[in-house]
Amino acid sequence: MNIVLCGMMGVGKSSVGIRIAELTGRRWYDTDIVITDRHGRISDIFEYYGETHFRALETEVVRELADQDGLVISTGGGLVLKPENNELLKRNGKIFFMRADFETLLARVKADDARPLLKNMGRTAEKLGELLAQRTPVYAAVADFIVDTDGKTVDEVAREIIACAQKA
Ligand code: S3P
Repeated sequence: MNIVLCGMMGVGKSSVGIRIAELTGRRWYDTDIVITDRHGRISDIFEYYGETHFRALETEVVRELADQDGLVISTGGGLVLKPENNELLKRNGKIFFMRADFETLLARVKADDARPLLKNMGRTAEKLGELLAQRTPVYAAVADFIVDTDGKTVDEVAREIIACAQKA
């Protein structure tokens, strides 16, 4: 069974994924990193080829990872919104929605310009709020478990997810 981490940009899917891998010996994959290694920077992919192309690359990676077992997979913030992706991931995995308040997310994404969906002339907070409102119900619907991350360390969240996965 794979552990799949989903949720908004900045919620800590990568850090928590790495910690889960350290604690359990699972192999860790981050879909954004796989794409970047193969095709270059995500902001460049969005700029030159568009979001649709990026979403197709995500599905290609999902197909490869969903075929394997015993992984921990950190997904890009938009990945599980596409039904084809979450159906593939659910065949052999449990999806954990890592949630955080708007303020927590904003503080984490503010200093980072690598996220093309938030690059819009100083309207980061507004755009983040819109995405959060649109996506929260979808994340909650696709997830097998919802994990609150506010006020928790990476280690605490990782251990909570491991405990859930063991019972699943
Ligand atoms: C995206 C989130 C990013 C990355 C891309 C699109 C999104 O990943 O996949 O910029 O649609 O929310 P993180 O959630 O790791 O920042």
